[in-house]
Amino acid sequence: MTEAPKTPQIETRLATAEDLPELEANETAKTKGHSASYLEKQAAGGYYVVVGLIDGKVSGRVILDTVQDDGTPLVPEMKLLWVFPQARRMGLGAKMTQHLEELARELGYEEVFLGVTPDNPAAIPLYIGLGYTPTGDHRSALNMSVIDGEGEGTDDPVEAIYRKSLLMR
Ligand SMILES: CC(C)(COP(=O)(O)OP(=O)(O)OC[C@H]1O[C@@H](n2cnc3c(N)ncnc32)[C@H](O)[C@@H]1OP(=O)(O)O)[C@@H](O)C(=O)NCCC(=O)NCCS
Repeated sequence: MTEAPKTPQIETRLATAEDLPELEANETAKTKGHSASYLEKQAAGGYYVVVGLIDGKVSGRVILDTVQDDGTPLVPEMKLLWVFPQARRMGLGAKMTQHLEELARELGYEEVFLGVTPDNPAAIPLYIGLGYTPTGDHRSALNMSVIDGEGEGTDDPVEAIYRKSLLMR
C-alpha cells in the first residue's frame, strides 16, 4: 500500500546566529554576504529577521525594519521577503508575513508598509491576498528591497508602496 504524501511542517520564528549557515548556503550572487549583515542589524535592535522553516530546514526569510535610516519614511517596513526557489507555493511566504505582522502588533504598530516592483508576478497576488493595498505612492528602489528580484531589473527600479492596517484581523 502506498503511503499518502506527508504534509510539510511549516514553522516561523526570529532568526538566530545558528541559522546563518543555512541562510548563507542559499544566498544568490546578488545577496552574497547579506545574511550576516541582516543578523548584525538584528543584534543592534529595531530590525527583525523572521525565518521560515519547512520540515525543520530554513527555507526563507523576511525582515521587519522599524528603524528609519534608509531615506524612506515607511515605518515599520516589511522588506526582503524571500522564499528559497525549491520551497515556493507551500504557504511559507504567507506564513512568514503573518508572523511579521504579529510581531509588528506586539511592538505597538497599527500598520505595515512595503515596496514592491509593479511587475512582480508572485509577490503582488500574495500581498493582495493578505490584505495589503497600494497607497498610490512610489519610490525609487535603491534601498535594496529589490535585490531578491529574479528578473533582469533596471538600474533605477521603481516600487509601488503598499500598506496594511493591523487593526483588523
Ligand atoms: C513572492 C514569494 C515570497 C512568495 O512566496 P511563497 O512561499 O511561494 O508564497 P505562498 O506559497 O505563501 O503563496 C501564497 C499566495 O500568494 C500567491 N502567489 C505566490 N506565488 C505566486 C506566483 N508565482 N504566481 C501567482 N500567485 C502567487 C498565491 O495567491 C498563493 O496562494 P496559493 O498558492 O494558494 O495560490 C516568492 O515567490 C519569492 O521569494 N519570490 C522572489 C523574491 C520576491 O519577489 N520577494 C518579494 C519582494 S517585494
